[in-house]
Amino acid sequence: MSDVEKIPKHPVLSWQTFECERGESPQSVLDAGEALYLNRGSLAIAFALRQIGISCGDEVLMPAYHCLAMVEPVLWAGAKPVFYRIGEDTSLDLADIGCRLTPAGRVLIAPHYFGFHQDMMAIRAFCDDHRLVLIEDCAHAFFGSVAGRPMGYYGDYAIGSAWKFFPVDEGACIVSSRGHLSGAATGPGGLFFEIKSLVNTLEYAVRYGRMGFMNPLICRILQFKDKLWNRVKANPGANVPAQSGGASGFDGNRVRQGSSGLSRLIMGASSKSRIARNRRENYSRLLSSLGDLPGCRPLFDALPEDVVPQVFPLVMERPEEIFPVLKAAGVPIIRFGEYLWEGMEKGLCPVSENYSRRVFQFPCHQDLKPEELDWMIGRVRDALLQKAVPESMQ
Ligand SMILES: Cc1ncc(COP(=O)(O)O)c(C=O)c1O
Repeated sequence: MSDVEKIPKHPVLSWQTFECERGESPQSVLDAGEALYLNRGSLAIAFALRQIGISCGDEVLMPAYHCLAMVEPVLWAGAKPVFYRIGEDTSLDLADIGCRLTPAGRVLIAPHYFGFHQDMMAIRAFCDDHRLVLIEDCAHAFFGSVAGRPMGYYGDYAIGSAWKFFPVDEGACIVSSRGHLSGAATGPGGLFFEIKSLVNTLEYAVRYGRMGFMNPLICRILQFKDKLWNRVKANPGANVPAQSGGASGFDGNRVRQGSSGLSRLIMGASSKSRIARNRRENYSRLLSSLGDLPGCRPLFDALPEDVVPQVFPLVMERPEEIFPVLKAAGVPIIRFGEYLWEGMEKGLCPVSENYSRRVFQFPCHQDLKPEELDWMIGRVRDALLQKAVPESMQ
């Protein structure tokens, strides 16, 4: 089975990244309030929990449909994750949350799945009534708005995950529209971290041939770097920084580490209108091409005006059969929530367990070329219509 994704799963750096803004820039989580740049969204959750003063014995309410990167910061803070149900449309089940509340419940984490927002006014009112601190998880929703307000506005804290929306190797933010970050600071990551961020960003761009006439030159430089790095690692006395972190790469030691200078530069200089426009167009194309095929259904069958989608989620009838076929063809598939926290009670939320198995997410990011999108649509159609999947991308 091929592990090579034939088209980029995530945004890729190219000259188009810095295109002049055309039309209005979309609202983003950074517009919601004061912001700090961090390394990853999971660390931003940890940062928020620390700011709130969460510790042993506290309970954090979080959705049964989750990824491990959301649970690890809660455990790191010493708190107990209390899982709640979601509805078929991925909305938070507030009645269920109400039933699970105990005096130890202090925080509610509310994600906007795949960029499609929750009813934040209802959630805000619920948190106010029950004296819960609200962390609005905008990891999938860096851009967009709810009731005219930017994503992240209704939370006491909001977190964003930059690498899902910008062509960067790492980067996230924590935002507070309520002034809860005053006095909080981040620290630098160091030279090795800065270089790693640059190298990984360029490596991904040249892998997909996005650097134009500079591609061959950058390739040569990176090959030279690989040789040098292998020599350094082979040296018994070499002080090579170790990889650290939990199942999702979470490393609580880096909770205050800021994002790299390069990521911040790219985020600042990227054309936001291009990101929003291309993502919405690609989503609409995927919806019209795949939405009515047999054996699947779109998780969201409309794209509201104020949504900038992270991905295109499709609910599969036969996920176990379709996944290996698409994987072997080199189609990039993201599977949010594929592994649910093993400590969560089985049967707590049948919708989450179902989506964990069945929802495949296909990229709709701004850097997909039209021919790449066509190719992906073709492979998914073939797989679903049970045609043979061609060996190579035409
Ligand atoms: C809903 C949600 N929240 C938080 C995170 C953590 O973000 P990051 O990958 O930047 O650590 C993720 C990661 O995919 C996520 O899907």
